[in-house]
Amino acid sequence: MKTIIEPFRIKSVEPIRMTTHAERQNALKNAHYNLFAIPSDDVMIDLLTDSGTGAMSSEQWAGIMRGDESYAGAPSWFRFRDVINEITGIENILPTHQGRASERLLVEVMIGHGDAGNGKIVPNNAHFDTTRANIEHSGCATVDLLTPEGQDPNTDAPFKGNMDLDALEKLLSERADDVPFVMVTITCNSIGGQPVSLENMKAVRAICDKYNKPFILDACRFAENAWFIKQREPGQQDRPVADIAREQFDLCDGSTISAKKDGMVNIGGVLLFRDKELAATASNLLILTEGFMTYGGLAGRDLEAMAVGFREVLREDYLRYRIRSTEYLGEKLLEAGIQIVRPAGGHAIYIDAAHFCPHIPSHEFPGQTLAVALYEAGGIRSCEIGSVMMGEHAHMELVRLAIPRRTYTQSHIDYVIEIILEVKANAASLPGYRIAKEPAALRHFTAEFEPIA
Ligand code: F0G
Repeated sequence: MKTIIEPFRIKSVEPIRMTTHAERQNALKNAHYNLFAIPSDDVMIDLLTDSGTGAMSSEQWAGIMRGDESYAGAPSWFRFRDVINEITGIENILPTHQGRASERLLVEVMIGHGDAGNGKIVPNNAHFDTTRANIEHSGCATVDLLTPEGQDPNTDAPFKGNMDLDALEKLLSERADDVPFVMVTITCNSIGGQPVSLENMKAVRAICDKYNKPFILDACRFAENAWFIKQREPGQQDRPVADIAREQFDLCDGSTISAKKDGMVNIGGVLLFRDKELAATASNLLILTEGFMTYGGLAGRDLEAMAVGFREVLREDYLRYRIRSTEYLGEKLLEAGIQIVRPAGGHAIYIDAAHFCPHIPSHEFPGQTLAVALYEAGGIRSCEIGSVMMGEHAHMELVRLAIPRRTYTQSHIDYVIEIILEVKANAASLPGYRIAKEPAALRHFTAEFEPIA
């Protein structure tokens, strides 16, 4: 097979400030070993998130200039609306400033205000944190219904994001009245960017029909999911990826989307409802807190950038490069004996830090150790997803390397691999960490750490 090249050339560049080992040690000290506290100017390769960190195309920047900033009915709104309708087939389209704003509106419309969610429960293959937090904010419980293979990081299976259909059927047969809607997240971020098959989504649809429940898609990474379906699901190989993406949306009653992922923009979101009445209720709420329904808290130029980005993400040469480049990083790490969540996800590689640093127990935060070491050795910023972030709810000690879209080249990724191998060679000498100071909630953002001597 020929090398899959980046299907773009670079027209505008952003310099990376090269730092020395001593500078990075100093930056770590000043940040109390919390990578969220490191100014991004001191980061050489930033793999903290793939959300809003991608590069826009020249066509998107042209859209930014075309943006019409009229309060109501701007041509930018109509262009955005038409593209989202063309891709999803859904008529009722609300722009929002990002995914969690769509989630907040969804909860208010489908569950209600205040404590309306008390006694209710929303299932998902696995809720993303903000989705879970928004649902639980209404008093409603959440539950993740992954299949057993989806919960095993060390085996390869094509669709580890699939919903456990028996568990869903059981929940609905026992508590149908308590379930306001069923949600599926594509791709499933919480377990490593793993895809969901069309077959599984069709079965979820059938169960929702049986119990008369709305089916909501968290479609942040809908194009990456559609590409995995084209590659892995029997009978899908010859279909255009846009048709597969459309079929995903055809199965749902509504969708929340953070356009900061597959919308290929730095800010933006979408909320979709097939039902006109629900959309009308959501529009009224949108006006309260986000903005009028033809801009939803965004500038007209942001709508233009989304209109272009949502089309560009479905280009097959882009998706081939995108998914292959994440897989390439995973493949090299596996070859070097580094354990990762398998198989490689669409937007990120998750390293098993407990395996990487077997001498560091969970309460000394092996994920923090690895994340700090990657920064110190090579200026790489990653994200701990383990006992620091999740406390006692952590199932694994992971470090996520999220790949921003169209931002880094293969030599950047080769450098990341080199640094990880260098850190691996000295892993036995790395210290664990203790938390010196922590806030009441969401401690990973602001906690201060100290290395254990
Ligand atoms: N749903 C999923 C699956 C996500 O991954 C995210 C964001 C959201 C919803 C919320 O969207 O940030 O635009 O409000 N994920 C980012 C990440 C933050 O780093 O994985 P948002």
